[in-house]
Amino acid sequence: MSKKIGVLTGGGDAPGLNAVIYALVRACISRYGYELIGYKFGYRGLYNNDFVPLDLAATSGILHRGGTILYSSNKDNLFDYTVMENGVPVKRDVSGIAIENMKKEGVDVLCVLGGDGTLTSARDFARAGVNVIGIPKTIDNDLGATEATFGFDTAVNIVTENLGRLHTTAESHQRIMVVEVMGRSAGWIALHSGIAGSADVIIIPEIPYSIDSIVNKIRERDQSGKPFTVIVVCEGAVDKSGQSVVGKIVKDSPDPVRFGGVAAKIAHELELRMHSDHEVRYCTLGHIQRGGDTSAADRILSVRYGVAAAELIAEEKFGNMICLRGGKMCHISLEDVIGSNKQVDPKGEYVNIAKSLGVSFAE
Ligand code: F6P
Repeated sequence: MSKKIGVLTGGGDAPGLNAVIYALVRACISRYGYELIGYKFGYRGLYNNDFVPLDLAATSGILHRGGTILYSSNKDNLFDYTVMENGVPVKRDVSGIAIENMKKEGVDVLCVLGGDGTLTSARDFARAGVNVIGIPKTIDNDLGATEATFGFDTAVNIVTENLGRLHTTAESHQRIMVVEVMGRSAGWIALHSGIAGSADVIIIPEIPYSIDSIVNKIRERDQSGKPFTVIVVCEGAVDKSGQSVVGKIVKDSPDPVRFGGVAAKIAHELELRMHSDHEVRYCTLGHIQRGGDTSAADRILSVRYGVAAAELIAEEKFGNMICLRGGKMCHISLEDVIGSNKQVDPKGEYVNIAKSLGVSFAE
């Protein structure tokens, strides 16, 4: 049966989105003869009926590229959307307009690539009767409903490479280098890059940190003839009193809190304790972790997601999200996806490995 599929990417971008689109388009066209269009800027494109054709030519040469050719937005929840009425901004449920737009264009299936917020709307469109397929995306690797999300491996590679660079300059000046990485309230990026990049201290939200403990590690390294220390800290890290550092609030975002600033805070506190025997510097890797080309592992994972989505569309198993379970692509109801966060187990294998290598978690 012929089908027309609308595709959109929502939330923060993640390396691998383009590879998913590439594989989805190819599998849908070559195996099933479907037609595809891509809505621009996530759900906003659906509301404005702003789309581009997604065919072989439009998606040629994008497999390796980070970002998303469809653009993205992390603000446009159509079930609670800001519209202007008499010059005043008001919140309205405009999902009906989006559904009408899909009907007008003859779109049978909506394929949504996104994280928690985007998938919540996907579930709500499924509840409203739209044929929806979800594909999970986040560099943070914190979605509990799937074993792995594309973007994570690329981010870990970028952080690992930069930890190497920071090591050589830290050593040259016998400095303490505090490196802040993304991840929100899950320490996966910090933990994996910290192990791969030989960090001396890894600070993750799942294990509250103490400055005393970091100072002890620095002194221990001084005594063992290593008078420099590289610390990797997840942006959502909390101290022993449960305090994290919020960088900004993004109004209208499904998850408005943006962490930011914990490396500066820790660097400042360490400087006060160092009595000038070590200089302290900090560095926030920020959106560099999401930019550039996609790693080979993420390209492979992404094309698996794309082809699996095409197959699920052909089987007409709507209302589901593609996921990775036991290393195999499968699917789960969108009803069971939302809020299933995955955090690092402080007693788990990776923390144990890092500790065995002599890494401190600043407990
Ligand atoms: O969820 C992905 C992520 O990159 C987080 O690691 C980070 O906290 C956040 O998005 C940054 O969001 P924004 O792109 O809105 O600054």
